[in-house]
Amino acid sequence: MLLKNKVAVIYGAGGAIGGAVTRAFGREGARLFLTGRRLAPVEAIAREVNSAGGSAEAAEVDALDEQALDKHLQAVIDRAGRVDIAFNAVGIPGTTILGVPLVELDVERFALPITTYATSYFLIAQTAARRMVANKSGVIMTATTQHSRIGIPLSGGYGPAMAAEEALTRVLSAELAPHGIRVVGLRPQAIPETGTLKEAFEIRAKASGMTWEQFQEFLASKTHTRRLMTLEEMANMAAFMASDKASGMTGTTVNLTMGSLDD
Ligand SMILES: NC(=O)c1ccc[n+]([C@@H]2O[C@H](COP(=O)([O-])OP(=O)(O)OC[C@H]3O[C@@H](n4cnc5c(N)ncnc54)[C@H](OP(=O)(O)O)[C@@H]3O)[C@@H](O)[C@H]2O)c1
Repeated sequence: MLLKNKVAVIYGAGGAIGGAVTRAFGREGARLFLTGRRLAPVEAIAREVNSAGGSAEAAEVDALDEQALDKHLQAVIDRAGRVDIAFNAVGIPGTTILGVPLVELDVERFALPITTYATSYFLIAQTAARRMVANKSGVIMTATTQHSRIGIPLSGGYGPAMAAEEALTRVLSAELAPHGIRVVGLRPQAIPETGTLKEAFEIRAKASGMTWEQFQEFLASKTHTRRLMTLEEMANMAAFMASDKASGMTGTTVNLTMGSLDD
């Protein structure tokens, strides 16, 4: 098992990416502390992990609340002795940030994803790093999308938000890697199983004139594999990157776009 004896905290564990990463980390033997803004979806995924023979505890933690993050992580350390992995899977609904052309976009809607994504990742990373430094080991992780690197219409401040996370991954690594802490991101291609992609499609459907099936085919046609990634494939890569097998990897965002985006 790749993550046996590792203690992992997942933020936004009730979401699509967070849930898939939770399942993969659980399969690989990690002891899991799952958090999210609302408790019910986090409890549901914790139950799933525990019924499959894993170990998961759920807590309600707002990733934008510095004190709540700190209090929760201290509770994790009190119970498990340390934290090895912190995974940021926080995301906000596309309906609040996508779908409006830049020339019509108000500044609050433009800034919302930038402040929310960058701030939650910063606070999660900072809280974890302060504990990890003592052990001279740890891995901090996040997930972004290819909006960080290519211009996609009607996505408002979402691209700048994803680019900010990738920049933060590099800066965090530059400061933390000398203390034994790796910082790595994943940039998967769009994953059709997630509600997030369906929502992004629906917001653009009228402007693009495509059906949901045509939209998936369009995205798949950009990849070398001519298909889109599954949640499980993304999460398996996350488990590998979180493990000691990836000890040579830090300060980077792994390109999981299956060829649709050149490095
Ligand atoms: N879906 C994709 O195809 C895809 C691909 C690549 C990267 N990503 C990235 O992966 C991340 C997650 O995406 P997703 O598809 O998993 O979205 P999702 O299903 O909407 O999940 C996001 C989760 O974040 C939680 N959350 C929101 N604000 C929070 C806060 N302040 N504190 C704690 N938890 C909070 C949400 O909880 P509530 O429901 O309670 O608000 C939800 O459980 C995003 O950064 C996204 O850009 C997604």
